[in-house]
Amino acid sequence: MSEARKYMSGFGNEFATEAVSGALPKGQNSPQRHPLGLYSEQMSGSSFTAPRAVNRRTWTYRIRPSVTHKPYRSAEIRLLRSGPFMETPTTPNQLRWNPLPMPEQPTDFVDGMVTLAGCGDPAMQTGVAVHLYAANSSMQKRFFYNADGEMLIVPQMGRLECATELGVIEVVPGEICVLPRGVKFRVTLPEETARGYICENYGQPFRLPELGPIGANGLANARDFLTPVAAYEDRAGDFRITAKFLGNLWDAEIDHSPLDVVAWHGNYAPYKYDLARFNCINTVSFDHPDPSIYTVLSAPSAVTGTANCDFAIFPPRWMVAEHTFRPPWFHRNLMNECMGLVFGAYDAKAEGFVPGGISLHNCMAGHGPDAETFERATAAELKPHFLDNTLAFMFETQLVLRPTKWAMETLILQHEYYECWQGLKRRFTPPESTTR
Ligand SMILES: [Fe+2]
Repeated sequence: MSEARKYMSGFGNEFATEAVSGALPKGQNSPQRHPLGLYSEQMSGSSFTAPRAVNRRTWTYRIRPSVTHKPYRSAEIRLLRSGPFMETPTTPNQLRWNPLPMPEQPTDFVDGMVTLAGCGDPAMQTGVAVHLYAANSSMQKRFFYNADGEMLIVPQMGRLECATELGVIEVVPGEICVLPRGVKFRVTLPEETARGYICENYGQPFRLPELGPIGANGLANARDFLTPVAAYEDRAGDFRITAKFLGNLWDAEIDHSPLDVVAWHGNYAPYKYDLARFNCINTVSFDHPDPSIYTVLSAPSAVTGTANCDFAIFPPRWMVAEHTFRPPWFHRNLMNECMGLVFGAYDAKAEGFVPGGISLHNCMAGHGPDAETFERATAAELKPHFLDNTLAFMFETQLVLRPTKWAMETLILQHEYYECWQGLKRRFTPPESTTR
């Protein structure tokens, strides 16, 4: 594998990259004989006939085609779950969890995934799963691919080095990466431990949201997304590929590294994004725009204007709204909100929502600032204020996120979460003339 971490800039571009000069055929996709003896293989991430704007496919030029492995057999699944999420009745209560503890046994990225909640069904290619991961071991002689969905990874602690078929992505807390459905990869941990969040998207791939009246620039700009250049392994050995396919895990033996793509061209590829590059748009007068103004990526559903999943962030930013209650208001939504915290503190909660923790507010569940935050915000002097040292995010879904049995039984579930709102007292003072 090449050591230099090089990336190409853009979102969904037609990239072209070769690790060895002459590996990329010129002028055609599948020559009769490749000049360097590579196999041509196309990987389609959309139907062949998808509209051009959302058509995704990549041509790979590899040492062996992907079909050269032994048959898959059923593998241990641990705490990974998939839709339909019917293990336990879904409560309408607001839920919050503490961070996932680090494993005590050697645990790699795949084995370290624990499913918190999900909606839809990979068989229907709709919905998402929300996983947490905590790992203390690099993937050894092991590769993974997910046929059920793309994986949006939000590291919260520790760097990940994701060696994929299409190149190497390094990602640190404060950045995200997206590994497309089906692309094989191996995760190593340069810092020995890692923890974070994953949104497994069963539906249409994430894309940049439309900008409407915002105009041509703003929010996440396309040029800040980075896709790795081609990098390959020409390595024999006793390896294992783990596949996630319709909710189960499957293992196959393979006698060489499947990360053997020497060159590729196309627009179906992994990418990463530094969330510090997000150009926040917000009020400069009064009140709040809806939190959709913080959308980084959006995966549409079949219902126009409704996301299968939106990925939104709440990064450091100025608060300048006049005569306005500045923290997020109290609200109840059709959509379902799963929030995590990468670092710092979230402005709607005084305590209890800690980095690595996660909360879930499902359809029509009332929520908002806790009592302490309400008191502070209503008494505050409204000067321009820079909200520093904070990075929260939200996976917002069309379908109700159903917690797994593990999520409802784990010791990290905060049973006392409801108490943070109990101090919100009656404050109504009617004018005297209207009292009896
Ligand atoms: Fe909310």
